[in-house]
Amino acid sequence: MISRRGFFKLMGVMGATALAGLALPGCGNGNASSSSASSAAASSASPSPSAAASASPAAAPRILVACFSATGNTRPIAKAAAQALDADYFEIEPAEPYTDADLYYSDDSTRATAEQNNPETRPALASTPDLGAYDVVLIGHPIWWGMAPRLICTLLESVDLAGKTVAEFCTSGSSGIEEANAELMELAPSARWIGAHRFAAGTPDEEVAEWVASLAIG
Ligand SMILES: Cc1cc2nc3c(=O)[nH]c(=O)nc-3n(C[C@H](O)[C@H](O)[C@H](O)COP(=O)(O)O)c2cc1C
Repeated sequence: MISRRGFFKLMGVMGATALAGLALPGCGNGNASSSSASSAAASSASPSPSAAASASPAAAPRILVACFSATGNTRPIAKAAAQALDADYFEIEPAEPYTDADLYYSDDSTRATAEQNNPETRPALASTPDLGAYDVVLIGHPIWWGMAPRLICTLLESVDLAGKTVAEFCTSGSSGIEEANAELMELAPSARWIGAHRFAAGTPDEEVAEWVASLAIG
């Protein structure tokens, strides 16, 4: 997790840029991985007419994009991903919404910072998605103090991701997604994690669609 001092130093370097929208020039995109779902090797032999007739096309995977967005940067990325995948969308919401004061990061005692400082914190969800119908789940969130908000930990401990294909994405001022991804993979080790990607706020839909395509889900 990025240290408080490190985060402020970073913010200082960046001047007065608003935290909610900033992105460091020259920063990497924070890819932790982008491995593809496995696909059967194509055979060069033509199928016999009987084989072709009996082969049924694989059913399209059912996909959910679930997103928490406290200040609105991650949500449009999530919506673009859902659109590109023809997926359902679920808004991850805390039972107690975050106020502007809760998100004020210059004071250790404010809610979001206090939650991030205690790795055991599990804020309650307003509702839990029913993942039973889905093969693939994409989880989106902001980076808070170098990690996923603890609300995402609550989510991962509230649902069964065993056997499901999962990818993670985030927006941040500049921090990568690597540490957040490592923590989430630990919380749901029986999921098949296929990628994690950090986007800058305001990333165009086409770029989101490119990442989604690189996951080779369908
Ligand atoms: C409490 C708090 C902590 C944050 N910590 C970081 C951080 O460690 N690194 C970073 O690059 N951005 C950090 N940010 C900025 C957010 O990650 C960024 O603005 C993100 O795009 C917000 O997404 P959202 O609008 O979907 O909530 C922090 C923001 C808040 C409110």
